[in-house]
Amino acid sequence: MQNVRALAASSLAAVIADGRPFDGSIDMPRARANKRGATQKAVLPDQSQLNPRDLALFRELCYGSLRRYALLEVMLGSRLKKPLGKRDADIHALLLIGLYQLVFLRTPDHAALSATVNACIALQKTWAKGLVNAVLRNCLRDLEQGDRKQIPRPAQASEAALASHPQWLYQRLKADWPQHWQQIIEYNNSPPHMALRVDIARQPRADYQHTLQAAGLASQTSEVCDSALLLEHACDPTTLPGFDEGLCSVQDSGAQLAAALLHAGEGASVLDACAAPGGKTLHILQHCQPKSLCALDLDAGRLARVHENLKRCSRSGVAKLEVADASDTGSWWRGQPFDRILLDAPCSGSGVIARHPDIKLLRREADIAKLAGAQLNLLTALWITLADDGELLYCSCSVLREENERVIATFLDNEAGASALPIDAQWGIACGAGRQLLPKKASNDGFFYARLRKSPLR
Ligand SMILES: C[S@@+](CC[C@H](N)C(=O)[O-])C[C@H]1O[C@@H](n2cnc3c(N)ncnc32)[C@H](O)[C@@H]1O
Repeated sequence: MQNVRALAASSLAAVIADGRPFDGSIDMPRARANKRGATQKAVLPDQSQLNPRDLALFRELCYGSLRRYALLEVMLGSRLKKPLGKRDADIHALLLIGLYQLVFLRTPDHAALSATVNACIALQKTWAKGLVNAVLRNCLRDLEQGDRKQIPRPAQASEAALASHPQWLYQRLKADWPQHWQQIIEYNNSPPHMALRVDIARQPRADYQHTLQAAGLASQTSEVCDSALLLEHACDPTTLPGFDEGLCSVQDSGAQLAAALLHAGEGASVLDACAAPGGKTLHILQHCQPKSLCALDLDAGRLARVHENLKRCSRSGVAKLEVADASDTGSWWRGQPFDRILLDAPCSGSGVIARHPDIKLLRREADIAKLAGAQLNLLTALWITLADDGELLYCSCSVLREENERVIATFLDNEAGASALPIDAQWGIACGAGRQLLPKKASNDGFFYARLRKSPLR
């Protein structure tokens, strides 16, 4: 039988100590070399051996601890006499998981405490049982003196830590969105909603909602766009009615805005420059029926997921998929200009933190200027491949102005034939030459869109 807390501690340690992204799967502890150099067997087997209840607990412990990492670190720091070294990153992570359970989960205290202490055995670190027990009991004593319904506010915690955010990101959100930063923080600290895109060319949204209802799946319509449904409870997508035939896809409502904003008519040639895993590629094919579509991505593994996505909906024959660096046009462009380009640029992901809370730990402030440079570089390189009178839709899942309106403003300053087209919409906030949809708890992720038109140069 697997120890779910030990598995969670190993996975969390891989993010904290090694800077590895967390994708919801279990991280196998690396085999450790013994004194003679021979490697020991990995201690913990894989996630397929967890029953569904334990898998749900594993995910709750990992995602929850990542979401609340900044606050939990302050709570732990004040209780450790000296910090644990990197080789005991798993025990450090286990302590965070223990605190997370005491503060945020309804697990009875004694059960959470003893199960967390016992996880030291599964981690082959029996020596740590006393430490884990002492730290968690100490925390519990303090919690019992306050209101257990309130999130603790340790005196030594900064405003950012109290909001469970790294300092730099907290400050940026406040500076960029003085009227809306609390909404973003609330979304960032909440579990994500599951949104579906109904293929409304085949079935009206209301009909599909009834089909879901009949299958016992309650949902609400999204205010952001007319194809989105928000599920009351997340589920395995493969169990959704009509999923295998492409009647619906898992896609956030904010992401569903792209296909319509691209304004690609039936005869258009389209480039989807950063396409993987293909949510928007599929939507463009279903919504616009273009003459041709070329989907590029730098990452071969991720591009394979575009193929799977299109195959599920019987669209795999329509698009041409290519592994390429979109900014290196000499390596992939055959000289035939595109009528429409979607540039869904690589970004900080600061608009999708509810889905990827590891962003709070892994992103650094210095990354933002580098990302903005790469975004401008992609935009400038791809502009050459756009036909005269063609349109490029720039999109990011960031809420930071440096990656969005400032990239577009610099580009418009540099490029004589480029102009911004209006986005006439009910959703979002006008933001420079584009429009920002801010993330909202139980509603939508954050996305930025800007429409650019290319005029012939005389
Ligand atoms: C935001 S994701 C795209 C999401 C996708 N459009 C969708 O809707 O499913 C950005 C993608 O850009 C890819 N990427 C990053 N740099 C690239 C480059 N220079 N050329 C092509 N693809 C790139 C990444 O591998 C990643 O898959």
